[in-house]
Amino acid sequence: MPLDALDAIHGRRSVGRLDEPAPRGDDLDAILAAAAAAPDHGELRPFRFVVLDGDAKDAFGAVLERAYLLRCERAGTEPDPAAREKERTKLDRAPLVLVVAAVRQPSEKIPWEEQLAASAAAAQNALIAATALGYGSMWRTGDVARDPVVKAALGLGEDDAVVGFLYLGTGEPIAAKAARPRSPDGLVRFWQPT
Ligand SMILES: Cc1cc2nc3c(=O)[nH]c(=O)nc-3n(C[C@H](O)[C@H](O)[C@H](O)COP(=O)(O)O)c2cc1C
Repeated sequence: MPLDALDAIHGRRSVGRLDEPAPRGDDLDAILAAAAAAPDHGELRPFRFVVLDGDAKDAFGAVLERAYLLRCERAGTEPDPAAREKERTKLDRAPLVLVVAAVRQPSEKIPWEEQLAASAAAAQNALIAATALGYGSMWRTGDVARDPVVKAALGLGEDDAVVGFLYLGTGEPIAAKAARPRSPDGLVRFWQPT
């Protein structure tokens, strides 16, 4: 029985290590449908979703490793063997990774920031849907999200954006993150005319 919306919103927590089962089949379809239902100014549909699963996910680790080596080359620094290995294996932290991207749509009216905002809303919808269906998740970015080699491997242009790598599976939340403040205290005011 899926959780209701507020339970899913409040129940979502970052899970650093995820195992099987991951959402596939109908559950993955439901997550993708929730993502694609995000608010979208001008109905430009800038969001794109790339599923990394099984052998394809393993192969994408080699892309991340190559991107790291090229970043080092560009920066003129020596690659660090531990960092290189981390890049190659980082997708092992979940059985399935859903990449949410924003592909820049031509528009006179809707600026890129709003297309990015719509795509971030799609990512959050995906996380909430995954939580509602009983899965753990974690939104990750980092250098890989901005790397041109990674973007190209995902079929994105340099002007497009990786909004997040959504790690999906099953596992226990990261305690330190789960303990973070979540209340709106101090963040809200009811505006009054002066
Ligand atoms: C745009 C974005 C990028 C994020 N990238 C990372 C990341 O690269 N590494 C990480 O540990 N967490 C990342 N997070 C997750 C946050 O760290 C996490 O949501 C936050 O600590 C709150 O914890 P919670 O998700 O358990 O509520 C990202 C979150 C967002 C919205």
